[in-house]
Amino acid sequence: MTRQILVTSALPYANGSIHLGHLVEYIQTDIWVRFQKMRGHDCRYMCADDTHGTAIMLRAEKEGITPEALIGRVWDEHTRDFAGFHIGFDHYYSTHSEENRALASKIYLALKDAGLIDVKTIAQMFDPVKNLFLPDRFIKGECPKCGAADQYGDNCEVCGATYGPTELKNPVSAVSGATPVHKDSEHYFFKLGDCEAFLREWTTSGTLQSEAANKMQEWFASGLANWDISRDAPYFGFEIPGAPGKYFYVWLDAPVGYMASFAKYARDNGLDFGAWWGQDARTELVHFIGKDILYFHALFWPAMLKFSGHRLPTAVYAHGFLTVNGQKMSKSRGTFITAASYLDAGLNPEWLRYYFAAKLNGSMEDIDLNLEDFVARVNSDLVGKFINIASRTAGFIHKNFGGRLADRIDNPELLSAFQAAAASIASHYESRDFGRALREIMALADRANQFVADEKPWELAKQPDAVARLHQVCTVALNGFRLLTLYLKPVLPKLAEEVEAFLAIAPLAWNHADTLLVGHSINAYAHLMTRIDPKSIEAMVDANRQNLEPAPAPVRHAEAQAHAAQPAAVAIADTISIEDFAKIDLRIARIAHAEHVEGADKLLRLTLDLGELGTRQVFAGIKSAYAPETLVGRLTVMVANLAPRKMKFGMSEGMVLAASGDAPGLFILSPDSGAQPGMKVK
Ligand code: MSP
Ligand code: ZN
Repeated sequence: MTRQILVTSALPYANGSIHLGHLVEYIQTDIWVRFQKMRGHDCRYMCADDTHGTAIMLRAEKEGITPEALIGRVWDEHTRDFAGFHIGFDHYYSTHSEENRALASKIYLALKDAGLIDVKTIAQMFDPVKNLFLPDRFIKGECPKCGAADQYGDNCEVCGATYGPTELKNPVSAVSGATPVHKDSEHYFFKLGDCEAFLREWTTSGTLQSEAANKMQEWFASGLANWDISRDAPYFGFEIPGAPGKYFYVWLDAPVGYMASFAKYARDNGLDFGAWWGQDARTELVHFIGKDILYFHALFWPAMLKFSGHRLPTAVYAHGFLTVNGQKMSKSRGTFITAASYLDAGLNPEWLRYYFAAKLNGSMEDIDLNLEDFVARVNSDLVGKFINIASRTAGFIHKNFGGRLADRIDNPELLSAFQAAAASIASHYESRDFGRALREIMALADRANQFVADEKPWELAKQPDAVARLHQVCTVALNGFRLLTLYLKPVLPKLAEEVEAFLAIAPLAWNHADTLLVGHSINAYAHLMTRIDPKSIEAMVDANRQNLEPAPAPVRHAEAQAHAAQPAAVAIADTISIEDFAKIDLRIARIAHAEHVEGADKLLRLTLDLGELGTRQVFAGIKSAYAPETLVGRLTVMVANLAPRKMKFGMSEGMVLAASGDAPGLFILSPDSGAQPGMKVK
């Protein structure tokens, strides 16, 4: 059955550049959308710039341009950055559109009719010089808890305390430097508390990830506060109907932007708006968001939809935050990396797509971009494993067989296994466990490489009586390569296009996995992907490093405590959760080969056999305890998902477990008899 799916990513703010953190989300969504399209579903990917609010208004003022001019320029930048990373929106709009004004007003009026809007006078911080009510982020002062200077109105970056702007000591307006005063004003509120029964039910309807559903329970427990949806003039946004001088708070019209983007697209493409947004819509509505904006998407938005007579989201998928080298992105370290600077450094966008995909698993866990690991992983998987299959076999088809693949495949076992994997790989994409999909795909790539290594086409090519065998081997390898390309296509759309041109085939769709390519002429092979040069990474980091004034580094409480509580080597390490432990993929491995490494006095080079999962090369510091020949054939335990590391002597693709202590000696672990290579250890 063809599904109809409207997919969205959160609308990025129009007051800043797209950075690699944002890209986690747009890449995640884009992969999912491309996958659905390859499956033949009717999937439409909508997004827009989020253009309203005080910050955008003030920034335009500072630049001496109108807010409209600012958001127009940013729209150009954002769409260019997204295109650079092959994000294939079906429509990318702006919340500053007539469609959005009309829909936001309509929804507001419906909520008002339903008795869900309240008007109340509240006191707010006001800048008497600028004549402007100040959002929390535009008030600075001393932290009420620790006294640190120069802190924002919502939380302290030194001690981590959260508070309201009225609690700051000696507050100043970040806009004018004036001391803010309290001023009364009428505000409009959406009575979220009245929606609690509905929200409690909706939360448990399976629309949310379990982590998100748990979060919701905490929110219910602490009570649902009514939501302030109005802001006073001057404000860049939409005036509230029937309330002159009052504007919709940016977060009121932002999610309506999903609808407005679709409304415009539907009109341009002859689609029925009601069939996608009406109360009885049978289509799917899927929102991808970051975990920081869950409250808006799991509470406000469904309540707005429900009580204004619209359909509800089918799913809200939240992802975690990006860290770079294990830390929050930082401008001084150069790890606050803009999308444009990545591309400017000459880095291939598909490398990042692949890396993020490998790290995404459909949960709300944060994901880390470790720049060294990035280089190692992409070089080893994409170039060393995937591209390698074609580059080692395609030439023979041209030189020896006039560019034509063999007419049939004599031993279809290997390729049948490749074809059989389509269903499980698809299920991993569907559940957004892209990491798992890629591990399965790379295990197949290992098998294809093993096949080529065993068959040695370069030697067959020297034997006049092995012509048919050579033709077979290269045909099988290139068919494997074609299937891998198909499976990787949601992640690597551009590369897949190049492979389609090389193989002279129509654009790959998921069900093409049912067929094989025989008796078919292909084009000459041109190199498809290069390795990452670590120098371009350094250049990119340097380009992003802003020389901030060296400030005395505040000692953060958490860090200070960590130092004090540093465990001694003899103590047990800090406890971890079962989820943390589950991240470590331990496997039984057979030591297929072991040898000394020239120039290394501690290391042995091991080739580990993981059965169906292929083989790994690992450098282990066990030379002092084991002669290589005593190891061959025995079983041990390895960490199979340790990021590959480039060592002086070559790539190390995992780690063997061994015990050591104060007493001399080193003891590698082995399973009881009966364990098989590749088995999971848990
Ligand atoms: N404008 C709002 C969203 C409105 S949706 C109706 C917004 N914009 S944003 O530009 O700050 O963020 C856009 C998306 O990028 C959000 O889903 C946010 O979670 C995500 N990310 C922003 N920084 C991120 C990281 N460092 N890591 C991962 N995702 C991040 O929020
Ligand atoms: Zn503080």
